[in-house]
Amino acid sequence: MAQRLTVIGTGYLGATHAACMAELGYEVLGIDVDADKIARLSAGELPFYEPGLEPILRRNLENGRLRFSTSYDEAAEFGDVHFVCVGTPQKPGEYAADMSYVDDTITALAPRLTRACLVIGKSTVPVGTAERLSRRLARLSPAGDLAELAWNPEFLREGYAVEDTLHPDRIVIGVESDRAEKVLRDVYTPMTSEGVPLIVTDYATSELVKVSANAFLATKISFINAMAEVCEAAHADVTKLSEALSHDDRIGGKFLGAGLGFGGGCLPKDIRAFMARAGELGVDQALSFLREVDAINIRRRIRMVDLARELLGGSFIGRTVGVLGAAFKPNSDDIRDSPALDVATSIRAQGGQVTVFDPQALENARRAHPELGYGTSAQDAVADAHVVLLLTEWKEFRDLDPEELGAFVAERNIVDGRNALDPERWRAAGWHYRALGRP
Ligand code: UGA
Repeated sequence: MAQRLTVIGTGYLGATHAACMAELGYEVLGIDVDADKIARLSAGELPFYEPGLEPILRRNLENGRLRFSTSYDEAAEFGDVHFVCVGTPQKPGEYAADMSYVDDTITALAPRLTRACLVIGKSTVPVGTAERLSRRLARLSPAGDLAELAWNPEFLREGYAVEDTLHPDRIVIGVESDRAEKVLRDVYTPMTSEGVPLIVTDYATSELVKVSANAFLATKISFINAMAEVCEAAHADVTKLSEALSHDDRIGGKFLGAGLGFGGGCLPKDIRAFMARAGELGVDQALSFLREVDAINIRRRIRMVDLARELLGGSFIGRTVGVLGAAFKPNSDDIRDSPALDVATSIRAQGGQVTVFDPQALENARRAHPELGYGTSAQDAVADAHVVLLLTEWKEFRDLDPEELGAFVAERNIVDGRNALDPERWRAAGWHYRALGRP
């Protein structure tokens, strides 16, 4: 394994990829324009919470295989293979993705590439981006055609980033030459030799695999949440419905958890960017169902607020609300498009006094929403509450004892936004238990 790799963009994806590639034995240089982030990573400190990643980061800093820098000169000099892992957030006020970080990366890197190398895009991008960037790369780099582009989408989940990076379900590569394919096959030999399937295709298909995977996952979640709406109207139980569906292995049980729906930095913005791109390609009708997927998802948040208000007799004014969860999902401190914080802020806007607790995301939540109250523990957040809302299903919340928690609240009202608790147990302890999609 001779290659020296750079990883450009050291956010969630990049920091994980850099550390895991070093773990596999490569020499890796991580690059970011954010000097503060680079300083923290160089000191062995992760700028975000991800179980299991920090020891890998530290180990590989110590053994010298991993370094970080802000210098593109150093990146071009160091690497034979350059992974591009910068973000593609939603543009403010639009559905489309903001491509400026990806474009800036190529603009900065290309003129410094003087020898043969492979630039590999991993960021989630609108289909057609790789084609466009490959032309730009060839035009701007002194190495000309020897500086080639490939696309290699990433499927890692936050909270399982290490496992997903080192043992992915599949590797997808979009290439335009045998040389690029060979380089990527070499890079991923440690995984393919363990039986991980590698799919070789063109640029456009590889880009589409990523967004269609996220669109499918979002659709699956919204499907079960639409069933939850029907269950609520028909006095049926969506958790039983989902369990029964899951035994059909054509359907499967994963991503069939009804509740407050999806958030985070990927699913919501990816389905919107996908719709925007389909519109540009003249096939917006093909993806118009994603508009409904998005709408179902947002309606769950509204329903959650309505349920809490109902439990309080019709108004939040002068009432205390204890919120368990701020991260968009457990095992993460990420609050981007967090359903939990969306619910918390709209209850506050309607006059409720809201106190939030989350095991990892408190600092991020406080920075983004200083107007909310914050507790130091689940018990602290629910102190004197008239209603408790479970909005992110951390294990420590699932394991709460209804009897013990009951001692802290003013009234034993709970809305389980993630169908994570046992209703019988909570009702037996004297709680009014309500949940999304359940009688
Ligand atoms: C998602 C995809 O799962 C990854 O494969 C992909 O690589 C990543 O986006 C990305 O594009 O980078 P992630 O955003 O980490 O990963 O989160 P997920 O585990 O997919 O969860 C997304 C949301 O769906 C969470 O808010 C979660 O609470 C919600 N969810 C998940 C449900 O509401 N119900 C379920 O049954 C499952």
